[in-house]
Amino acid sequence: MNREPVRHIGPEELAEQGRFAALVQAHHSRPRSYHIVTYGCQMNAHDSETLAGTLSGMGIANAPRREEADLVLFNTCCIRDNAERKALGNITWLKEIKKKRPHMLIGVCGCMMQQRGMAETVLKQYPFVDIAFGTGSLYRLPEYLYLAVEEKRRVIDVSREESTIAEGLPVLRESPFKAYINIMFGCNNYCAYCIVPYVRGRERSRRADDILREAEALVADGVQEITLLGQNVNSYGNDTGEIPFAQLLRRLEATGIPRLRFMTSHPKDLSNELIEEYARNRALAPHLHLPVQSGSDNILAAMNRRYDVRTYLDRVDRLRAARPDIGLTTDLIVAFPGETEEDFQQSMALVERVRYDSAFTFIYSARTGTKAAGLPGQVAPDVASERIERLIAVQEGITREVLHSLRGQRMGILVEGASARRQSQMTGKCGRNISVNFTGGHEGLVGRIVPVHITGAGSNTLRGEYIKEEETT
Ligand code: 5AD
Ligand code: SF4
Repeated sequence: MNREPVRHIGPEELAEQGRFAALVQAHHSRPRSYHIVTYGCQMNAHDSETLAGTLSGMGIANAPRREEADLVLFNTCCIRDNAERKALGNITWLKEIKKKRPHMLIGVCGCMMQQRGMAETVLKQYPFVDIAFGTGSLYRLPEYLYLAVEEKRRVIDVSREESTIAEGLPVLRESPFKAYINIMFGCNNYCAYCIVPYVRGRERSRRADDILREAEALVADGVQEITLLGQNVNSYGNDTGEIPFAQLLRRLEATGIPRLRFMTSHPKDLSNELIEEYARNRALAPHLHLPVQSGSDNILAAMNRRYDVRTYLDRVDRLRAARPDIGLTTDLIVAFPGETEEDFQQSMALVERVRYDSAFTFIYSARTGTKAAGLPGQVAPDVASERIERLIAVQEGITREVLHSLRGQRMGILVEGASARRQSQMTGKCGRNISVNFTGGHEGLVGRIVPVHITGAGSNTLRGEYIKEEETT
């Protein structure tokens, strides 16, 4: 494991990037527009917001369509085989476009590039790709563009700068009223199936003051909802010895942010303090994404998850006691090597017992370099597909029941805009992160948290009526 100390990128390095940015901006053949294609999790989505912030700061405009952009960046994910295949397919598609628009620059970045040897392979097999860089060096994008534009060089930088934290990078948020904040990077858990520790490096937490400063600026900017991001937020602060996660939540509540979310939590690190925080923290949304992965103790042990079903269920019960309106969501993997029908039945039973609002279900995908890739008992693809279908069917039924049980409630909805299906209705998210379409609202509510009376439920959305605010006083 990499044990070099965490390095905070200093102002001199950022100033140097500023000089590269100015050189690119002054260059006659600079890109004038960019398009970013993002795969994977919220971490990657937020990295893309940072890339967009850097590019727009250089006077490069966003192009809605990739085929019309001068610079296309693919921010890739490698968590499962299909995430990789999708990215590579889309990169290939751009080859023909580039033939017609030879000045187009194509960059590939993100987790896929962090895999050993992958960036070299991509540059070799995709000769029309100009730039390849990893997740630890986003802040150097101006330099890469300078090398590509001025020196006409192909750039490859996957220097595995895993132990860096760059503060103060510009961010172009996708939403004016919702924002992400990274609180930590990397993961030390080494779940047997997972590639993340190998591509995102070891856990390193940002300083609490830096996080709070960012949150205060967002609140001042009118942001209504902050989602804290990290591969394992429950171990926030373990590496720095600063404050633990529950205390960070408390300090964030004091910024006045109306709604606070976080992801992802590892069940083994879900502390009593955090459970108590759900009972008292008014900013904390009544939602927790708590990936269980399997309902079988044998499989959980083989996955190196370091909790058993009993411990997991105990934490679920205590969370619900602390916050009765909490909605839980999860991730489940089917067909992990060695999973028997009985193990699978235990996952089905766990889903029935917990009654999640919704679940992300995945067929196990072997990732080179992980412990599970070498395990015996790989499950046949037809068995895996059949299992996932059964699991999805059970969860769909539960989702429907849970949503129906919410009828009659009054909820605060963060309004996102007009409903795509019915323009006369508005849509937004409740605290449990369920989409709610409602009547009686108007465009003026966008970006606000407003009271809505829930009147009905579909298969994965709720319906409601806006409670006019004068009526609520
Ligand atoms: N195969 C299938 N699913 C995986 N996940 C992570 N790695 C793999 C893999 N190799 C799932 C886990 C995790 C979610 C983000 O992706 O369920 O929680
Ligand atoms: Fe996110 Fe993991 Fe995919 Fe990277 S590999 S984008 S951290 S899910």
